[in-house]
Amino acid sequence: MITREEISQLIKGYDLKKLAIATIGSHSALNIFKGAKEEGFRTVCICKEKDLIVYKKFPLVDEFIIVNDFTELLNDTVQEKLRKLNTVIIPHGSFTAYLSTEKLTDSFYVPMFGNRQLLHWEASREKQEEWLKRAGLRLPKTFASPEEIDTLTIAKLQGAKGGRGYFLANSPESFSKKVKEMIRRGLISKEDAAHIHLQEYVIGVNVYPHYFSSIIKDDVEFLGVDKRYESTVDAIGRVPAAEQLEINLNPTYTIVGNIPLTLRESLLPELLTMGDNVQKTAREIAPPGIIGPFCLETVITDKLEIYTFEISARIVAGTNVGVGTSPYAYLKYGEKMYTGRRIALEIREALKQKRLSDVVA
Ligand SMILES: Nc1ncnc2c1ncn2[C@@H]1O[C@H](COP(=O)(O)OP(=O)(O)O)[C@@H](O)[C@H]1O
Ligand SMILES: [Mg+2]
Repeated sequence: MITREEISQLIKGYDLKKLAIATIGSHSALNIFKGAKEEGFRTVCICKEKDLIVYKKFPLVDEFIIVNDFTELLNDTVQEKLRKLNTVIIPHGSFTAYLSTEKLTDSFYVPMFGNRQLLHWEASREKQEEWLKRAGLRLPKTFASPEEIDTLTIAKLQGAKGGRGYFLANSPESFSKKVKEMIRRGLISKEDAAHIHLQEYVIGVNVYPHYFSSIIKDDVEFLGVDKRYESTVDAIGRVPAAEQLEINLNPTYTIVGNIPLTLRESLLPELLTMGDNVQKTAREIAPPGIIGPFCLETVITDKLEIYTFEISARIVAGTNVGVGTSPYAYLKYGEKMYTGRRIALEIREALKQKRLSDVVA
């Protein structure tokens, strides 16, 4: 595990007047680059040739590092280049999707905005659960084995991103039938089937609040909310029930985009408290806790009960709906505040106070 002291040492070799913000070209990169530009930083994009069009059409990048594969980020030459450019890396969803947590925590010698220790807590569903429970959040029930299924249950695959291959079952029998069916249709592998996580399926609407834990201001801010647009689950209502039965339609959860949301104001006290408590617990498990953005994935029922089923301790793609402005960021900051810019602002303030090593790890 790379220590905070080692990263502090790296920063000592930096020309802080030329500090640049870097990330992988995907996920929330436009959000991050725009924010960096608005706060006056240079930007560096680690990019695949085929994605260059995005960062040419939206010209927010000063320097490209072209790779064939994102794992090249771990190569000595790429790391060396990033350090030479005085970069702070902003991790997003593609980092853990393409690179192993171990590699990121043990062999990536570039200052990263955020708390590296928490990557391990995020990587495992069990550890996430422990964290969220300790923070006092309401979680869906989990089932240790298919025999225990006694209510509508969602079967999740290990390490799956974007919910591909997930399915629902209502009993041990329907579970075993569905698994076979999913394998037969090539939607999941036998290996996947052996590591399925079973969780009570909460009927309600999905709500994803975006928070920002500021180490500099010692506060948890509420910057926005989104909901997801998932294929096929959001399309199922367009097919009448009779035809759904005829074609044996199963919902899948492949994320296609995000939709901005504002909430009943009466939900805010609980959601704001949840954010504070998640950070308080994070500070206990891995000091100083979350540095920067985090997001909870929740389902809210018709009784207005908020169930949290996942946490991301980094920027999420849902915050892209806030670029320009989200109502909540506007309420706090006025115009033109959003997660990408909030990150850059935190780095800017840390620099001013000579506390950069407090926000990177
Ligand atoms: N307990 C649950 N109850 C209802 N819907 C859920 C539940 N867990 C997940 N979902 C739905 O499945 C999607 C993917 O699940 P998630 O746990 O976020 O997987 P991933 O690790 O792929 O992000 C969610 O965005 C949500 O729509
Ligand atoms: Mg998720």
